[in-house]
Amino acid sequence: MSLVPHHIQTLEPYKAGRSIDDIKQLYGLKEVYKLASNENPLGISPLAHAAIAQAISGVNVYGDPLALKLRAKLAERFNLKIDNVIVGAGSESIIGNILRTFICDTDELLTSESTFIGFYVLAQASGLPLKKINMLDGYRFNLQGIADAITPRTKVVYLCNPNNPTGAIFTRDEFDAFMARVPERVIIILDEAYFEYASSDLTYPDSMSYRYDNVITLRTFSKSFGLAGLRVGYGFAHHKFIENLLKVKLPFEPNSLAQAGALAALDDMEFVQRTIENNRAGYTFFTEAFTELGLRWYPSWANFVMLDLETEARVNETFEFLLQRGVITRPLKAFGLPQCLRISIGLPKENEACVELLEKFVGEKLHV
Ligand SMILES: Cc1ncc(COP(=O)(O)O)c(C=O)c1O
Repeated sequence: MSLVPHHIQTLEPYKAGRSIDDIKQLYGLKEVYKLASNENPLGISPLAHAAIAQAISGVNVYGDPLALKLRAKLAERFNLKIDNVIVGAGSESIIGNILRTFICDTDELLTSESTFIGFYVLAQASGLPLKKINMLDGYRFNLQGIADAITPRTKVVYLCNPNNPTGAIFTRDEFDAFMARVPERVIIILDEAYFEYASSDLTYPDSMSYRYDNVITLRTFSKSFGLAGLRVGYGFAHHKFIENLLKVKLPFEPNSLAQAGALAALDDMEFVQRTIENNRAGYTFFTEAFTELGLRWYPSWANFVMLDLETEARVNETFEFLLQRGVITRPLKAFGLPQCLRISIGLPKENEACVELLEKFVGEKLHV
């Protein structure tokens, strides 16, 4: 259709994983576990649940277009001013907003291979050239390689730390060395969607302790706060940066229920703490089991573990075996890693079910 520009015609639409209900129906299963989308297995914080229920009676009127209460609370929590904070319908929406606000026709975008697919989709939708730099061994961001690739046209660099889908982090030293080489005219999007799972590692660069005028830090309520379906993300940056983003942002996002839920979730750090503890225990359980099964896994600072199964065929076979028996995982072909499978860390019973099936699969298929 000639109305559609080439970069949209060739854009692969985002394919979400199958839902629990779909898989129950398809395979006649009573119990299905979804370890595919890095959601919070503990559910929703009770405080957020109550606040959303209360806010429902007010949805006949528009919410706060500037989300002032939520932004003020985030500013207070992170010791910033409100005009350093933006919120959006998920951090992905803020990425879209950054691209709409700051890029011009002749700009180029730069990131890594094997990083968050949401950025690839938004970058291609912008119609601008996107350069992807190969990762280092261990599926780690090659920050020096990315710095080498910056040209006078580079406008936005996207970094993801911890990285989805590989789980790896770059360290403070690596980030410092990188920032020393980045010109101030280049915008750095630092996506920290999995920040809460990584922040206790002293080598992890907590971006709130850095003050760069060209860096925007993005975080989300979708993971450790358990509000993925509500769609709330937030960003911190220089006030001039935020001022311009606010000119372009759709006025009523996040919606009023999302604002109410996120405000209450910030008061429920006990829930976040339980989430982190469940994740830590699940990570140890998974990685010990994977080692025992002879599966190659990569260290993760997030709420998932990536397996390298060597071939796409083996990934598909493993994925199907688990799926048909009620565990949904995520093959990573769309992320550029056809040989890898990502498994989100769930509740103990979900992790145990997954490992039991993997044991069966390895016994039946891999070691015969
Ligand atoms: C690295 C990364 N960034 C952003 C997002 C999207 O977060 P949100 O739900 O806030 O849009 C995800 C979701 O999986 C992610 O993995």
